[in-house]
Formats: sequence, C-alpha cells, structure tokens
Amino acid sequence: MMLSSRRLFVSVLLAGLGTGLVGCKKKESAGAGPSGAGEASKPIVIGHYASMTGSTAHYGQDTDKAVRLAIEQVNQQGGVKGRKLEVVTLDDRGDSAEASNAVARLIDVEKASAIIGEVASSLSLSGGRVAQRRKVPMVSPSSTNPKVTEVGDYIFRVCFLDPFQGKVMANFARNTLKLESVAILKDVKNDYSIGLADAFRAAFTGAGGKIAVEQSYSQGDTDFSAQITAIKGSGAQAIFTPGYYSEVGSIARTAQRLGVKVPLLGGDGWDAPDLVKIGGDALEGSYFSNHFAPDVATPKAQKFVADFKAKYKQEPTGLGALGYDAAAVIIEAMRHAPNLSGDAIRSALGKIKDFEGVSGKITINGERNADKSAVVLKIVDGKYKYETTVEP
Ligand code: PHE
Repeated sequence: MMLSSRRLFVSVLLAGLGTGLVGCKKKESAGAGPSGAGEASKPIVIGHYASMTGSTAHYGQDTDKAVRLAIEQVNQQGGVKGRKLEVVTLDDRGDSAEASNAVARLIDVEKASAIIGEVASSLSLSGGRVAQRRKVPMVSPSSTNPKVTEVGDYIFRVCFLDPFQGKVMANFARNTLKLESVAILKDVKNDYSIGLADAFRAAFTGAGGKIAVEQSYSQGDTDFSAQITAIKGSGAQAIFTPGYYSEVGSIARTAQRLGVKVPLLGGDGWDAPDLVKIGGDALEGSYFSNHFAPDVATPKAQKFVADFKAKYKQEPTGLGALGYDAAAVIIEAMRHAPNLSGDAIRSALGKIKDFEGVSGKITINGERNADKSAVVLKIVDGKYKYETTVEP
C-alpha cells in the first residue's frame, strides 16, 4: 500500500513538474537492485527533499535550482572519485509526514549517499530522524532551529541558528531603531517561528525592551484581523513576526488595512520574492535578518549569482546561496572521505573548516552547526536594501 502510493506520488511529480526537477534516474532501476555494472560506474546519488509545491514552494524550488547548479558544475569538472553525481529530488509539499517518507525513499529506494534538506525546521526535524536512524548524513541548507542538529550525529547544517538571529533582530530593534516596546506575532504550528520568537523576546527584554503583547496564528491561516486589532491597542512600536512569506505578506496587508503604521520585523523566513508580491507596499520600511545579501557579495558569491542568473533567468535568494553551499560541502566531504559510506562522509563533514561558501565561510563546529554572520535588510521600494552585517 505504502509503496504503491509513493510510486504514484513520484509519477505525479514527474508528470506535474517535468523531469528537470527530478533526477533522471530511470524508474525501473529503482529498487531493482544492482544491475550488471559495478557500483563504481554508477553515479553517486544525492537526495534532496523539498517543498517543490504548496505554500512554501519558493523555498524548495530556489534551493533545488541551486543544488542542481552546484552538481552540474562539479560534473563538468569530472565529478567525485571518478564518478558523476546525480540529484534526485522528492517533493514533500511542505508536510512533515511527507518529509519523512521522502527521506526514507531517497535512502531505501534511490540509494542516496547523502541527503540535502529541508529548509523548514519542522520538516528537517521529521526528515532528519529518518536519516539519523539509517545512518545517512543529512545537511540542512537553511533550517535554523537549534533542535535540528540535536536529532543526532548524522545531521549537519550550513547556516546560523535562531538564538543568534533573534538576538541580531532584538539588538537592531533596541539599539539601532531605539524601540522600547514591540509586539510578537508568531506561528504556533512552526518550530522555527516559536523558537525565533523565544530568542527575540529573551534578547529584547534582556536589553531593556518590553514585549507589548504576544499573539499567535497557525500556518495556513488567512485572517489575521483579531491579532492585529489586539496589537493595535497595545502601543507597540513594531511587530516582530517570525513566519513564512505567505502568512507574513497577509499580516502586512491586514496591518495596513486596520491602520497600524508601525514597521514589521522578521527573520530569514521572509526571504522569497512572493513576500513583496503578497504584502506589497504594506511592507515598506520593514526589516528582516537574512543569510545573504547580493549587494555585499564576495567574488565567489558574485560568480554564483551570475551563474544562477545565466541558467535560470532570475536572481537567487538566500535559499539559493545556502542550497549551493549545502551541496558544495557534501561534495567536499565526499572528496576527502576514504570511501562513500555514511560513516566516512559523516566524519569528513565534521572536519569541514574555513570552507569558502557563497553564503560565507563555513566551519562545522562540534555541534554540527556553522557559525555564520547575519545581514539585516530593509524593504524599500519593494526591494531589499542592505543595512548591516552582524558577526556571531
Ligand atoms: N530558517 C527557516 C527555518 O528554519 C527556513 C528558511 C531559511 C526560510 C531561509 C527562508 C529562508 O524554518
């Protein structure tokens, strides 16, 4: 039952999105065991699980494009250990149970040597448990909740964590914007949003600020008028809303409609072109923390932006930069590992030091996290304007 529904799901994905988004691995070889040719002549499979559809589709699509760019470039240079690499992407539709299923399938059926994913922390938690149990290394490009890498010693990430990101925005609100009182509006169905709200609250009150009122919503909600009305009466000078772009866009519109003129503040979950498409001018003058700002890109990052634009005719987001780096770090680990067993790749990942990624220098620390700087961006004329960089 399970298998047939998954097969159906994969063919639906193939039909719906085209083979460009899914590895070109032939379906009849899946699960059929080794063919006549030896392992060494087959491509090395990197599994990617991502929200290719649904309300966070931008996250999955941007990441996947960048992962594919990284793999294509490595293959042009001859691959790794004399073998080509192949990406197999499975769509989890932004759903926790689908994320677990996708990771199981990438490992058991597609025989992935390493996994890239997810963007959303809640999905990295569910998918990560599956990878950990099977002892296949997983690198999350952009999940920032601390619990993600605590799942176990096979789980890594190449981005900063929310306690840092929350502090960056709290200090920015308190010291740069000189705010005294801020409201919090968080998504209680989302580990990332809850964790980032906690981090912001602790740092902002620690710096002498006050939380005027705290309100919540659930991912998928479309009506935020009750929460905004409560915030309106609280005297808050800004609203910290650490959520994903679809809901944040509607929150901004609701605030504008109800006459709330204070800026919104947020985190990396805002980083998608659809944020401004949905929120429009209601987001003008708002600020958020992020992983990457093209305006202050290093030469390596500039090359990535140019290559991405040439291939996809669009600008990469921070998600693209991190997806590219997650793939690059896995490739670097595979190069140094004595063989491609899960354990060998895992220990090579743990030794990544001063690796020059497009999103900054990456050193994997003892907790399998990366200590990275954050940028603060301001929304001006519908575009992101770089404000400042904060070192860890
Ligand atoms: N950091 C978010 C999370 O952990 C995901 C995210 C990263 C979204 C970067 C957008 C950009 O859930």
